[in-house]
Amino acid sequence: MDKFVIKGGGRLTGQVLISGAKNAALPIMAAALLTEGKSTILGVPDLADIRAMGELLGDLGAAVTPRDDGRLEISVEDETHSHARYDRVRKMRASICVLGALLSKRGKARVAMPGGCAIGSRPVNLHLRGLRAMGAEIELDGGDIVATAKRLKGAEIFLGGPFGSTVLGTANVMMAATLAKGTTVIESAACEPEIADLANYLNAAGARISGAGTPHLIVDGVDSLRGIEHRIIPDRIEAGTFMIVAAMSNGEVTLSNVRLDHMLAVADKLRQIGVTVDSDNGKVVVSSARRLEPTDMTTQPYPGFPTDLQAQLVALLTLADGNSAITEKIFPDRFMHVAELLRMGADIRKEGPTAIVTGVKRLVGAPVMASDLRASAALVLAGCIARGSTTISRVYHIDRGYEHIEVKLRSLGADIQRVSEDD
Ligand code: EPU
Repeated sequence: MDKFVIKGGGRLTGQVLISGAKNAALPIMAAALLTEGKSTILGVPDLADIRAMGELLGDLGAAVTPRDDGRLEISVEDETHSHARYDRVRKMRASICVLGALLSKRGKARVAMPGGCAIGSRPVNLHLRGLRAMGAEIELDGGDIVATAKRLKGAEIFLGGPFGSTVLGTANVMMAATLAKGTTVIESAACEPEIADLANYLNAAGARISGAGTPHLIVDGVDSLRGIEHRIIPDRIEAGTFMIVAAMSNGEVTLSNVRLDHMLAVADKLRQIGVTVDSDNGKVVVSSARRLEPTDMTTQPYPGFPTDLQAQLVALLTLADGNSAITEKIFPDRFMHVAELLRMGADIRKEGPTAIVTGVKRLVGAPVMASDLRASAALVLAGCIARGSTTISRVYHIDRGYEHIEVKLRSLGADIQRVSEDD
């Protein structure tokens, strides 16, 4: 196991190239199960979760071949094995999005029921409700979801849940609907850019989906889909993470391969805090030269402020000039970073799903523990600006979702090293 050793303090300046979006690439890889022939996916980040999805697709009969420069080729060669086993699903919850594709293409799927994880309880009842509405028979057997359907039928489906829309639930039902008989209408669909990217991939492959990126999605079923070439959208969460570290270090960072139109809530919040965010020739320049203003923020489904940047924003606000209130509305228990930031001198009080953050003059380095992907990212950012040395153990959490984060941070001037836990 690796750890990061960070000597904090310096201003971060320079350019950083943002990778393709993990959360777009994962469902698109699953969607390749729906197609005949070879799909070539471009801009796929080199991440542990992507490799895990590749292995799962391998179990399900697909040949998955990574090439240089983020090019991934996928072609389904054998449709006899449709079982996503618990040892795979346990490690990566996005495995659940093979369910809709397998069921629609092969008429059957057996997918281990995902459990909770470090960010809280993560039910899949809405996924199952959507698939049942299309005629799937679904039962639980030995911890697996066992779904069968001769051919799914189009239906009107409301996918809203207690916390709003569901991203992977929308992906699952949309994938299933592409090969169903007739028209499916999904109301309260997730509007995330990753869902629109999935719809773009499927439409290029021959699907007939309209309204992707809005809460009202219409899918006219077709008989087959073909393999195609598709480029993954830039990762808005990775981009937001680098924007935040630029602000925390009072630095100036230029991001390329970035879609600011996917990040308006983030840019707006950073500007309220006093950070300069400029768009320049397809690039985004983020700089900050003064104390940061405190703010209030509540996470929301897209286009609101993303839960996947909440931890990083909390890290930033530990340095603001006053009190901020950050409320987590998507995953109310997603505050694993708070206890670790306290070890670094932050002043944060938890009240239910809200963190009250009182700015301090500086954070100080400490040994801390990575717990989940985004909480760990927040600790890396804190380590980069803290006085002294921070050691972050269990960085495999970070490797699940950030491509070479230490290499990118070093290119901006951070002093961060990856070392083996044994050293
Ligand atoms: N929910 C239900 N029932 C369901 C599904 C979800 O009640 O059947 C609830 C969840 O408990 C949660 C809310 O609905 O309160 C939203 O969850 P959602 O289904 O949208 O989450 P997800 O699709 O499982 C994706 C991302 C997460 C990201 C969330 C929210 C991928 C692979 N994962 O998860 O990303 O936090 O959407 O935007 O796309 C990450 O990258 O670090 C990460 C956790």
